[in-house]
Amino acid sequence: MARAIALFGSSRRHGNTGQLIDHIAEGLDLEIVDLAQLRIAPYDYEHRNRGDDFEPLMTRVLDFDHILIASPVYWYSVSPPVKIFLDRITDYLDLPDLLDQGRRLRGKTGHIVCTSIFDNAPASFLGALTATYAYLGMHMGGVAHANCSDGYSRMAHESVVTEFSRNISATRINR
Ligand SMILES: Cc1cc2nc3c(=O)[nH]c(=O)nc-3n(C[C@H](O)[C@H](O)[C@H](O)COP(=O)(O)O)c2cc1C
Repeated sequence: MARAIALFGSSRRHGNTGQLIDHIAEGLDLEIVDLAQLRIAPYDYEHRNRGDDFEPLMTRVLDFDHILIASPVYWYSVSPPVKIFLDRITDYLDLPDLLDQGRRLRGKTGHIVCTSIFDNAPASFLGALTATYAYLGMHMGGVAHANCSDGYSRMAHESVVTEFSRNISATRINR
């Protein structure tokens, strides 16, 4: 099975996005990190937040071939914990002692897992994550989106989950 890690951020762990990522984890070797449970401070130009949970988390993330960002759509964008996580990746582009580690993101595959109340995730949401993966030199993987206007339904979203998981499992990592 492909090794994958999900960086999950929502205002509730067992809401729609939480249920979607748990459903995906049933068919994948997937580690789920609930960003809201970690102590990760917002980006700081002076880097006075070094020593929080971000660098240990990144050390863990860099062990994986597949990186999933899992977030609800909140106002056309990612959730606050996911935004803070993405902002903090800047540390790995800024700080000389982290640059080599940051370069290890290159060649990894980034995926998007999201829920909203429409049939499709907004272009702003998908575009920001797709462009971020590209900027970091990552491959764009799959998107699993669930319309949760009526809440999360395993039955309604089964095919999305199955196809998304199958695509990750089928990916061979050639290094
Ligand atoms: C603060 C907030 C903002 C939201 N903004 C949007 C939005 O811009 N577009 C959309 O389709 N749904 C929006 N929604 C609906 C959520 O995306 C949807 O209910 C999602 O499944 C919630 O996932 P969660 O249970 O993990 O929070 C918003 C919900 C909240 C609470």
